[in-house]
Amino acid sequence: MADIDSFQTEKRRFKPHASFAKQANLTAAEFKKLTALAAKSPDKYWAGRAEDLRWMRKWKKVCDWSEAPFAKWYVEGQLNASDNCLDRHLETWRRNKAALIWEGEPGDTRVLTYADLHRETCRFANVLKGLGVRKGDRVTLYMPLVPELAIAMLACARIGAAHSVIFGGFTSQAIADRVEDAESAVLVTADGGWRRGSVVPLKTNVDEALTKTDKVKKVVVLKRTGQGVTMTNGRDFWWHDLMKDASAVCEPEPCDSEQMLYILYTSGTTGKPKGVVHTTGGYMTWAHTTTKWVFDLKDTDTYWCTADIGWVTGHTYVVYGPLSNGATVLMYEGAPNWPANDRFWQLVEKYGVTILYTAPTAIRAFMKWGDEWPGRHDLSSLRLLGSVGEPINPEAWMWYQKVIGGGRCPIVDTWWQTETGGILISPLPGVTATKPGSATLPLPGIFPEVLSNEGQPCKADQGGLLAIAKPWPSMLRTVYRDPERFKKQYWSNFAGKYFTGDGSRKDKDGYVWIMGRVDDVIKVAGHRLGTAEVESALVSHPKVAESAVVGKPDEMKGEAICAFVTLRGGSEKTDALKKELQEHVAKTLGSFAKPEMIRFTDALPKTRSGKIMRRLLRKIATGDGTLGDTTTLEDLSVLAKLREDEE
Ligand code: PRX
Repeated sequence: MADIDSFQTEKRRFKPHASFAKQANLTAAEFKKLTALAAKSPDKYWAGRAEDLRWMRKWKKVCDWSEAPFAKWYVEGQLNASDNCLDRHLETWRRNKAALIWEGEPGDTRVLTYADLHRETCRFANVLKGLGVRKGDRVTLYMPLVPELAIAMLACARIGAAHSVIFGGFTSQAIADRVEDAESAVLVTADGGWRRGSVVPLKTNVDEALTKTDKVKKVVVLKRTGQGVTMTNGRDFWWHDLMKDASAVCEPEPCDSEQMLYILYTSGTTGKPKGVVHTTGGYMTWAHTTTKWVFDLKDTDTYWCTADIGWVTGHTYVVYGPLSNGATVLMYEGAPNWPANDRFWQLVEKYGVTILYTAPTAIRAFMKWGDEWPGRHDLSSLRLLGSVGEPINPEAWMWYQKVIGGGRCPIVDTWWQTETGGILISPLPGVTATKPGSATLPLPGIFPEVLSNEGQPCKADQGGLLAIAKPWPSMLRTVYRDPERFKKQYWSNFAGKYFTGDGSRKDKDGYVWIMGRVDDVIKVAGHRLGTAEVESALVSHPKVAESAVVGKPDEMKGEAICAFVTLRGGSEKTDALKKELQEHVAKTLGSFAKPEMIRFTDALPKTRSGKIMRRLLRKIATGDGTLGDTTTLEDLSVLAKLREDEE
């Protein structure tokens, strides 16, 4: 896996502007001091971070790592995440400050102040209680990007229930699997959501999913799009009916620091998605701190993270981080190119967005659409730009900096994962000199290492595997109901160190350059997908015997999905069948998981132990002639055949 070659030679660097540095939340001197403190007295450093939150009971111990890799942070402390995001601000001038400015894709708008958001959260918390939800229960949320999704999350947190949010782009099988694993008795959804002018039939997807699992007993349905939906008597309830009489008084439940705040399912190397577990105290501490430092968030900012809340970026940097800081958060429901390619820039101008946090895949799309779209709008309100989710190529970085940031805005290329809970490697905008394409340096208290397969530190500029050497408060605690998988997946490669699954190198200045995943996870338009999940979706089609899925580099989406498919006897290899299989995956998992290319093959290349040789398939998919060592191939003719077909 290791010994990854790196061919990038990026020489440009950008120092922070003095004017930005002067007003930054974290100065270079503080950064230096905190970095040293974190190395020397970690408990003192981490205690300082947690003191920014409101605790109901102070912790007794900062970090308990005695049962590693199962960490406990702020042991015996008590707090409530919704209290920190809402109630805390009501006692200040922020009471009537806009918490959420929301715009739907059709152009409808709503503004919720902190007092509004608090009231709606309390009411929905009472609705959940009325449906029988208790502390420790898991509630599944499958919703469009509307304020009610944030309200439902905060309502769960308020009563000590864990939420499991499922991205609205997933369809029935993905919902059924996640509900089944989380054992959710209550599911909250909407009739639909808007995407590129069409309705995403969320409730219909739920109805289909619930034919595959009997775990869910009650479904709450928000009316968003207004099309007809089927309501099952006794199981399905309209959000507005339940909210009508719900009391706006609901005290936040004191939660243990290690109380589960949420599960977020993410793709791994097997077909079964992993339920990444985050707990309250440590997660909130790092969400709060990183938002303040990395985005330099101020009370005067209008902050927009364009991520869907269905992904971790939305959890940490749309909801918990910004709201715990009392920010004004913009939320936009729909697509960046609806009704035209300048929707984002229209929104930036309309609301005077000051901080924009988006994904390289979006930036590359904007680049392709042309400078005239942002050129039509006044983007001078922007003062900081962020990037997340996949490596950003230097060209896209430069374009973002020039065309969107007007050369004036620092760019924070933030590296992190669902599992890390918050940003671990990123420039600090008033402190770190940036190099286009590098996530730069770790935040204070984070100790990334680039290691060889054997766990030896790699030399400068030598590619290797990225690990994190010490625990941090927002690290995942386990894989839900699968502690063995947690140990094996993250802690078995390097003793005592967290393995990220990413390849990377550090340059001579210690800057980290992420080179992408080294496992069977692919990143399509920033969305994380396990090859095994797409393979299972393909194999669930009656004509498919076996399949192997690999990612191939794609200029726009980062990676595109290529599927090699072996058909069952008697099935004909037709283009119509290829289309049918693509649609089948879209229907089973969601259209973002649709393979771009399908190739029929009589057999798949395997090692003697029966493992599919993805490395070879990847090369075939990209048309690379140098196939390297194939001595372990069980049947060389299989490979020859695949290559012949190509010609
Ligand atoms: O490969 C890395 C890539 O995204 C993976 C994590 O995906 P996910 O859990 O979906 O979380 C995405 C949002 C935090 C990582 O293992 N990745 C994330 N950020 C970056 C990145 N790759 C390069 N540069 C980044 N800034």
